[in-house]
Amino acid sequence: LHNMDRGWLGTPIEELNRMPQCAPPLSHLKVVPNHTITIRTDLLKEGELPVPYPTKFKDTWDDVSVKMPCSDKNLFPMETEDGGGVQSRWELIHTSCVEGCHSEIQCGPCKEMGLTALNLLCTEYLEHSEAQHLFEVVLPAMVDLALSAPRLCTMPIPLLKARVNYSLTLSQEQIACLLANAFFCTFPRRNSRKSEYCNYPEINFYRLFEVTQNKPKGLVTFTRQTLSSTPDWESSQSQLTRLHITCKGTIEEGGYGMLQVDFANRFVGGGVTGHGLVQEEIRFVINPELIVSRLFTEALERNECLIITGTEQYSKYSGYAETYKWAGSYRDETPRDDWQRRCTEIVAIDAFKYRHFLEQFLPEKITRELNKAYCGFFRQKANRQHLSAVATGNWGCGAFGGDTRLKALIQLMAAAEAGRDVAYFTFGDAQLMRDVHEMHKFLTERRITVGRLYSLLNQYSSVVCKNCRTPRPDVTLYSFIYEKVSSHCRGAAGVPDTKDP
Ligand code: AR6
Repeated sequence: LHNMDRGWLGTPIEELNRMPQCAPPLSHLKVVPNHTITIRTDLLKEGELPVPYPTKFKDTWDDVSVKMPCSDKNLFPMETEDGGGVQSRWELIHTSCVEGCHSEIQCGPCKEMGLTALNLLCTEYLEHSEAQHLFEVVLPAMVDLALSAPRLCTMPIPLLKARVNYSLTLSQEQIACLLANAFFCTFPRRNSRKSEYCNYPEINFYRLFEVTQNKPKGLVTFTRQTLSSTPDWESSQSQLTRLHITCKGTIEEGGYGMLQVDFANRFVGGGVTGHGLVQEEIRFVINPELIVSRLFTEALERNECLIITGTEQYSKYSGYAETYKWAGSYRDETPRDDWQRRCTEIVAIDAFKYRHFLEQFLPEKITRELNKAYCGFFRQKANRQHLSAVATGNWGCGAFGGDTRLKALIQLMAAAEAGRDVAYFTFGDAQLMRDVHEMHKFLTERRITVGRLYSLLNQYSSVVCKNCRTPRPDVTLYSFIYEKVSSHCRGAAGVPDTKDP
């Protein structure tokens, strides 16, 4: 069992459900009240570019849709001799983009566009030939892509507003166009967080991303899920589901076909267009279609998550945070479903950020995290045997300072309640792998319910944490649980060694 060479414990990963094998047939793709689809569903065909719908750009400028750069209402105040006037911003964008790209390679256009980073890239980092390629091939292609907005993104894009269950399905080509606009910072009202979009992430960005020659032909669905009622944790009779735990591999690699957790910020994508390069930002960089969610996703509330189905991975990487490096292009061969989406399902759930270690053991904090994870894992109308396993890891335990052993239990409980198995990637931590495996085995062998576990967590909070005067309690959570459960079912054999770190 403790064969460390194999680097994993628990249920063999082959036995866990993955998409698309575990899924029942998808319903026919069609517009329903809470789902906007921006392409012609009747013409959707594998291997062909989805056709935008409607044919003509529908100009809206209201507070339920994304304000588009190509809107007639997107105006720029001009100073003229006879006072003020306005000019179409889209026309200005048009002229400066086209002119900018045809001028010399001295990076003049960068300055004009205010793209300091790009200017630096050209003058400091790129070889002359690379800069030439950038200006003669890459940027013109991106300009074309950005300028095709009124042809490609014809339907108003609904904002995924707080407290509303809503899905949006876009084509990968439309997303590329929206991202090109974000790259050139053309989205109106989105260059300051103090404006009407203060409760949305930033979307306009300066970073380069790869433009491929072949247009991706699929769709991507973004679903905001709000829990209207939360489980009654205290009385839950659910048994823990199966666990595969490994210290090798990552969620995105080892967890293909599973529900992959994005360790998110409540502003989805976190620092991806600014600072920060940890789990969420890395995922958004390698699967850049995720970034477009920032255009329309209002900050997540406590009982909400964002589910993104169908994004493609375009880049490989090595390292992490400061040592992160782009490691070349990636060819994503994940199969597509009948809606032409890659079978990659990612769920953004934001953990709570803890400044003090003890805070996370407060019952209300534990319940908050349980509900958040449950919201991410739960699927309405789903038959449990068709649900893929959850691929997760140290959610909330890096930048957000949570305790891995507590968070692992919380996620196991939420997954149990939602009826899904778990594949847990400890990101190199072999001790954590052994400890969580041992705890899971102990709890399942004794058929400890989620409800019982919940009350054990609360007891730990009131007995150990409440009166604790040091930054960290001297009795660890796991030794407390072993102790309580063992003394309760007296005579139970095989109580593990409780010396966890
Ligand atoms: N697969 C499995 N585990 C991973 C992976 C991976 N690909 N990458 C990292 N880990 P963190 P948080 C492990 O800090 O604490 C962002 O800015 C690794 O052990 O990204 O929830 C968001 O936008 C790492 O320490 O998540 C939020 O603002 C741990 O997962 C904030 O960070 C936690 O990763 C969220 O912070």
